[in-house]
Amino acid sequence: MKKILVTGASGFVGSRFVARWRSEYNILTPTHAELDITDRESVNSYFMLHGPDVVVHLAALSNTGYCEQNPDDSYMVNVEGAANIARAAALCGARLVFFSSDQVYNGNLESGLLDEDVVVAPENVYGRHKLEAEERVLYFNPNTVVLRATWMYDRERYGMPSHANFVLNIAKAIKERTPVVFPVREYRGITWVREVVEFLPSTFRLPSGVYNYGAENDTNTYEVACCYCEMLAGLQSGALLYPDYDRYPAHERNLSISTDKIFRASGGTICFSNTISGLRLFVEIGNGC
Ligand SMILES: NC(=O)c1ccc[n+]([C@@H]2O[C@H](COP(=O)([O-])OP(=O)(O)OC[C@H]3O[C@@H](n4cnc5c(N)ncnc54)[C@H](OP(=O)(O)O)[C@@H]3O)[C@@H](O)[C@H]2O)c1
Repeated sequence: MKKILVTGASGFVGSRFVARWRSEYNILTPTHAELDITDRESVNSYFMLHGPDVVVHLAALSNTGYCEQNPDDSYMVNVEGAANIARAAALCGARLVFFSSDQVYNGNLESGLLDEDVVVAPENVYGRHKLEAEERVLYFNPNTVVLRATWMYDRERYGMPSHANFVLNIAKAIKERTPVVFPVREYRGITWVREVVEFLPSTFRLPSGVYNYGAENDTNTYEVACCYCEMLAGLQSGALLYPDYDRYPAHERNLSISTDKIFRASGGTICFSNTISGLRLFVEIGNGC
């Protein structure tokens, strides 16, 4: 049985990954207190003691607003912490799967689906730090798969954390009868975390390098929200959702990823639903929320 070390196992993705795969892998799930990724020496000791085959590195400061306000903390965890993990993984010959973000594309001016080869120049702290981390982890451990993940969602599940996400934001608006605003000038993939978790073991076998990872999307965020509301038993979005035409005035914000590369590299195994069909699946088999 492969030994998999998951950092950030108590988080949104980590808790769902562990719940899904714990019967098929020997999964190590140190808490933040047991393995602080910013402490290089204890990271090295932990890795030498446990000798994982694969490391799924999910530990991060994932709140973009917090990172903007606290760039030093963000750098320490999202860049230095990732580098510590990559060095330690290399020391014990482990493959590393590192979660980056589609926020590395947030300064791009191109429209349409973006592939991994476009030149990126992220405009916020989180995006810049994820990009620097990508470079550092590949440098310290060339046996690394970098996954540029999109915004993810899920319903609330017992024992698992759920921070603000697309479907929960809409569910809250429905429940509290308070309108919610979504940007018209934004294009981004929005992915059911179930697919992210389901495909993760297939990433262990990919050639090293950078891959977009999540749902494609060519519909603006406001329209995606309207479509989702209609899927929820034909709920009329009119009084609930409002278009925001003013957000992102300098240029349209396009984070939409192309997933051709990962589809081809995995021999068609890693095949995400696009954003709208993923939401439909979420409503049909995940019961929506
Ligand atoms: N969620 C999304 O929509 C999204 C989108 C794109 C990319 N990503 C990326 O995907 C990865 C997983 O995201 P997520 O949503 O699961 O994150 P999350 O829910 O915020 O969880 C982050 C995890 O990191 C741990 N952590 C933070 N600082 C740590 C440290 N110094 N040492 C050890 N552990 C530490 C946290 O533990 P404590 O809570 O105990 O501190 C928590 O378990 C992250 O790299 C994130 O940037 C997420």
